[in-house]
Amino acid sequence: MTDINTIGVVGAGTMGNGIAQVFAQAGCAVRVVDALPAALDRAKQTIERSLAKFVEKGKLPAAERDAALARLSFGGSLDALAEANFVVEAIVEETGAKRALFADLDRITRPGVILSSNTSSISITALGAATKRPDKVLGMHFMNPVPLMTLVELVRGQATSAESMQTAMALCRRLGKTPVEAADYPGFISNRILMPMINEAICALMEGVGSPEAIDTVMKLGMNHPMGPLTLADFIGLDVCLAILEVLHQGLGDPKYRPCPLLRRMVAAGHLGRKTKRGFYEY
Ligand code: CAA
Repeated sequence: MTDINTIGVVGAGTMGNGIAQVFAQAGCAVRVVDALPAALDRAKQTIERSLAKFVEKGKLPAAERDAALARLSFGGSLDALAEANFVVEAIVEETGAKRALFADLDRITRPGVILSSNTSSISITALGAATKRPDKVLGMHFMNPVPLMTLVELVRGQATSAESMQTAMALCRRLGKTPVEAADYPGFISNRILMPMINEAICALMEGVGSPEAIDTVMKLGMNHPMGPLTLADFIGLDVCLAILEVLHQGLGDPKYRPCPLLRRMVAAGHLGRKTKRGFYEY
């Protein structure tokens, strides 16, 4: 466990850069790999802004920010991961792309290294089956925004070993996070419960039960949720919500997971939430 000091993070998007940041803050050398140089530049800037915020608030000494930044390196080639002792994948949510990447990581990394995925809904068992080390493949599902959210959902695939799960649990604790184990069924625990709530909020809006503000206020003030479900859907991305609901609907076969037609219509219109500046609200 103490041997884990060099982390590979593949994918420098919102989740990848947050994951890289928390490992660097925990004292690990982190190699961030993304094929797009622009994504790497954005990731660097996002991490710098996030760390600056913590320094500003007195939550992080400036020297620790500098040390964390010095532990990060960025590049376009997976070969940089030959020396990694733990890998987290956070690329696009496409089974084919992830399976191809896991096969590459299996070739490039040392045999004992755990390969984890930040996927929110793709089968860990299917990713493990793309490698010759399915016992060392697991889900490490962080929540957005990663530097602030303390949960990590650890997903155990069909072939994942107890030892790999224990190593990942201990690593999460080193990050100051709370790991929770989930089995590899569609949506794991988090999205199995979160997405039907968001979907129901969208159905309530579609049926005119309440305005977006009314629905969100009920859940914020009535249930003490930090964000109402429609605000949260805009934050996550409506395309992401739809994709996860499709996985639940197809994978579990129960009509209760049927994506709301209004959600489909908004995604078709390109109103995807905060990232397109328009979803249930305008930004
Ligand atoms: N790094 C550092 N600081 C950050 C930050 C980051 N990445 N992101 C936000 N902050 C800062 C903000 O800038 C803000 O700072 P100021 O007070 O100086 O303005 C501070 O954190 C608090 O933010 P907000 O003012 O926006 O207020 P908040 O109290 O609402 O906190 C929140 C924000 C933590 C995001 C909170 O709203 C929350 O917990 N929301 C729910 C988030 C959630 O449910 N995430 C899970 C989504 S599901 C998922 O990720 C998985 C999936 O598979 C879909």
